[in-house]
Amino acid sequence: MNATAERISTNLETVFQRSYACDAPDLRRLYENAKRDQWNAARDIDWTAPVDYEAGIFADELIDGYGTEALARLARKDLARLNLEFSSWRLSQLLHGEEGAMLACSQLVDMVPSNDAKFFQATQVVDEARHAEVLSRYLLEKCGGRIYPITGNIKTLFDYILGHGKWFVKTVGLQLLAETFAVALFRMLAETAKDPLLREICKRILADESRHMGFSVLSLPEAIASLNAGDMRELEEFTREAIQLVLTGQFPAEAYEAVGMSAAEIASVKRARKEVARGRDYAMFRKLFKREMHTTVVTNLRKVGLLNERTSAMLREIGIDPSLSAQAA
Ligand SMILES: [Fe+2]
Ligand SMILES: [Fe+2]
Repeated sequence: MNATAERISTNLETVFQRSYACDAPDLRRLYENAKRDQWNAARDIDWTAPVDYEAGIFADELIDGYGTEALARLARKDLARLNLEFSSWRLSQLLHGEEGAMLACSQLVDMVPSNDAKFFQATQVVDEARHAEVLSRYLLEKCGGRIYPITGNIKTLFDYILGHGKWFVKTVGLQLLAETFAVALFRMLAETAKDPLLREICKRILADESRHMGFSVLSLPEAIASLNAGDMRELEEFTREAIQLVLTGQFPAEAYEAVGMSAAEIASVKRARKEVARGRDYAMFRKLFKREMHTTVVTNLRKVGLLNERTSAMLREIGIDPSLSAQAA
């Protein structure tokens, strides 16, 4: 095993169906769409396009602490270096999520109870492999090759998803919650990244992700409606936990360290980013991102039958308004 590899034990039940009639036509349609919309990360992306590091990978406005004293002091070339490290850090987290998603979906092929769900999950395994391929290649070839370690929170979330023995818990964790977060981030990057190659990669990934979220919305309602009270409680608690894990603990301290900022300077960036989020115009990106993500989380929970009094109270505690809806957004 290499140094970053981790083993996760799990107890999962493989359902060997041996019944081949189309029993879930909406999932079969999603499977057909997946076959129709495959793309090839090696062939369809122009890997010869140069990256303009001076212009940046992400928009500078997305760097935590942008507009504060600590960053305003940086020379242009140091800010460009921070942009590269910051972008690499965020993309590394997305990359670890893609690999985790591939592993979870390969388990789901075994576990999901219908043939059509298995067919679709088989395509999601390939999709997630392609996302891990394209992001790792971008980091290795275009961003200087640095892949940052997974954050504690993302690791905790995936350890739980991969170790759990029930398919619908994995699907709530992966397709309903983690992918909602990733989609909001990819969408923001597809629109605002400075590097055109990254914008193109994010657009390609997004096209796949909407199918993945579709899987949760189609497959979960029936499973959730049939849960007993104990399993429902467990799922509600996990929902709270998973949302908190994806929303917190994502501060890229190592990226600031990589450009030589001191612990005191990094602490001041960390403090300042909260104030920035409240006031200035360039926090607009973040506000839109947050609103879109919150709205999608609430809408999806409602669609699958997981928005009730208890989960609404949990959402309020976390700072998400449970009355948000896609129509009002
Ligand atoms: Fe993905
Ligand atoms: Fe996905």
